[in-house]
This record gives sequence, structure tokens and C-alpha cells, in this order.
Amino acid sequence: MAGSTYGNLFKITTWGESHGAAVGVVIDGCPAGLPLSEEDIQHYLNRRKPGQSRFTTARQEADQAEILSGVFNERTTGTPISILVKNQDQRSKDYGKIKDCYRPGHADYTFDAKYGFRDYRGGGRSSGRETIGRVAAGAVAAKLLRRLGIEFTTYTRSIGEILVPESEYDFSCIFENELYMPNNAYAEKASAYLGECIKSMDSSGGVIECQITGVPAGIGEPVFDKLDAALSGGIMSIGAVKGVEIGDGFLAAANVGSKNNDPFYSKGNHILKKTNHSGGILGGISDGDTILLRAAIKPTPSIAQEQETVTSAGDNTTISITGRHDPVIVPRAVVVVESMAALTIADLLMMNMSARLDNLERFYL
Ligand SMILES: Cc1cc2nc3c(=O)[nH]c(=O)nc-3n(C[C@H](O)[C@H](O)[C@H](O)COP(=O)(O)O)c2cc1C
Repeated sequence: MAGSTYGNLFKITTWGESHGAAVGVVIDGCPAGLPLSEEDIQHYLNRRKPGQSRFTTARQEADQAEILSGVFNERTTGTPISILVKNQDQRSKDYGKIKDCYRPGHADYTFDAKYGFRDYRGGGRSSGRETIGRVAAGAVAAKLLRRLGIEFTTYTRSIGEILVPESEYDFSCIFENELYMPNNAYAEKASAYLGECIKSMDSSGGVIECQITGVPAGIGEPVFDKLDAALSGGIMSIGAVKGVEIGDGFLAAANVGSKNNDPFYSKGNHILKKTNHSGGILGGISDGDTILLRAAIKPTPSIAQEQETVTSAGDNTTISITGRHDPVIVPRAVVVVESMAALTIADLLMMNMSARLDNLERFYL
């Protein structure tokens, strides 16, 4: 299976299946000297851990990070950082019934079509557990970026039709409600809606938004490695993400040029913009403004309602998925989106080091 590696200079490889012994990541290319402890990684992993609210699966997984290499005396050594998280509380028997059926909305059919063989216990590499490696690596990338003044604010913008209007954002609330919404009253409305979904054995989707501040102008390459292309690719590679927007995104298509352009102005030595329809990126390169991106997450495919499907032998049948699954993926995916954004920015920031001769001269002369 190819494609488990992400990044050019800050490069990660995730490994492991949901019902194997462990999952994890190897980070190659993290600069030496970054203070790093297991607590730094655990803090991020705890944000995606199941069993924390009534809207996330009741599976009790400790998701305890162990750093196996690349750190000495609580600092990165510049060598590969290997992080392992042991799997616990898997109930392979929950999946016995669905071993020969293709679950609608899952990768079962496409895995069989591609490989002719699949690990049916919880989706294998397509499982949400694969994202543990991304989040562990994202914690390292975010810590590196924080040293450079780059910060992330990531939250749930909407669940189903319940959307927090921008005028009512209160970022101090994000960690006060179990849905990571920037408004507790909207989080209550969304919780009531999710309660209805649970009653009707259904699930909900939603939108995650991420704001990144402190990225200097000039990050991103102008052609295939555009910053917006790289961010979209990284975030689209997360399971259940069905759309990515940068800045105004799809709304820009309905706007006129005179309103969609962000007028520039100069203040002191800085070139600034009066508005930020661009979402902080012009021509694939950061413009120094806040980077704004959104990810649309589909409703959890595993639902207890009876659905039509076929068996791997091609017989028509029905299926009802009774294992333990999140009625909504969004809250647990918030930190996954932030992690992929951090990994992408860290990588392109490092690539940018060789863009100019004066950078090289400053370093080598
Ligand atoms: C953090 C996270 C947790 C997830 N948990 C579940 C889950 O409990 N049940 C489920 O059916 N899908 C879950 N998914 C989504 C499936 O993995 C995904 O929808 C499926 O592999 C099909 O891929 P696609 O939606 O990208 O086409 C999760 C995804 C993520 C990112």
C-alpha cells in the first residue's frame, strides 16, 4: 500500500490498523533542539480521544503516546521521531457480522475492488484510528510553529443545519462544550439535534473551521505546491472530509471582483489588506493575513438503521451496524484538521528556506 507518507522536508509516515497491536507515526525532518515531551503529544491526542462525551463513541481507549526515538533530554535530536500508541478495547467480534457485507458509506467495497483482500475489523487503514499518527505528528509541528509565532484556532462551525454566525463567535467557549463550538448556546442547540439523530438511529455531519495567525507572507510555492493546494490535499486526505474551502471559498463564485478583491494598504513597514476574502493566500503564497480554511465532514457512515447493501459474493441484503460509533465525527476531527494544517505549514515553511539567495548567504557566509 503506497501513500502513507506526507510532506517533503517535515515528512511523516503513519502506520497501523485500528484492530492491530498499535498505531503510530514516524516524523523525519523535524529540526533538532525543539523541546518535546510525551505530554505535548498527549495534550493533542486527548482532543480526538473517544469516550469523552455522549456524542463520541463509548469505546474506552487510553490513546497513550510513547516516544520511541528522536528525543533526548526532552529535546528533539534531528533524527526520526517514532511515536507509538497501543490499541486497546477493540472488540473484533463487533465486526464479525459485517465481514462479508459492504457497509454503505465505508471503504469496504473499494478496498476489495482494489486489493481483493481487506481487514474487515473496523476499517483497517481507513479507520478513524489512523488519524492518531497524524495528530501525534501535528502536535510536534504545532509546537515548532508556536516557536515561530504561528498559532491555530480550530473549532466546530456547524453541526447539521446549526451554524454559529461569525458575529457570535466567542473563542473562549471552544473548550467549554463537548462539541468544540465557539458559542455555548449554539452547542446546546446542536446537542439537542444530535440527541434526535441518536433517537432515530441516524448521524450528522458538520463543518470545521481553522484560523491560522502569524504565518509570514511568502510561504507556499507558486505552482504544484501552492499553500492552498497543499492545505486542501492534506485536509481532504482525512476520512469523511468531503469539501475544503479557503477564505470565502464557494461564496467567492457568487461575488463580483470589486468586492472579492482585498484592497491593500500600507502601515509602517507592513503591507496589509482591508478585508480577507482571500483567506490569507494569494497565488498559492501566504499574504501575511490570517489563513482561514473550512472542512466539510460527512455524517458518520456507521448507523444502526437498516440499509440496503450487497455481500462480497454479490447477493443483495440489508445491514444494520450495531458496533460503537460516533453519531457525529466532527468534534473528534477538529484536532485532526488542525494537525494536517500544522504539518502542511511546517513543511512549506521549511521548503521556503531555500527560496532566496540572501537566505542562503545569511546562513552559509
Ligand atoms: C477522527 C475520525 C473518527 C471517525 N470515526 C468513525 C466512526 O466511529 N464510525 C464511522 O462509521 N466512521 C468514522 N469515521 C469516518 C470513516 O473512517 C470514513 O468515513 C470512511 O473510511 C470512508 O471514507 P470517506 O468518508 O473519506 O469516503 C471517522 C473519521 C475520522 C477522521
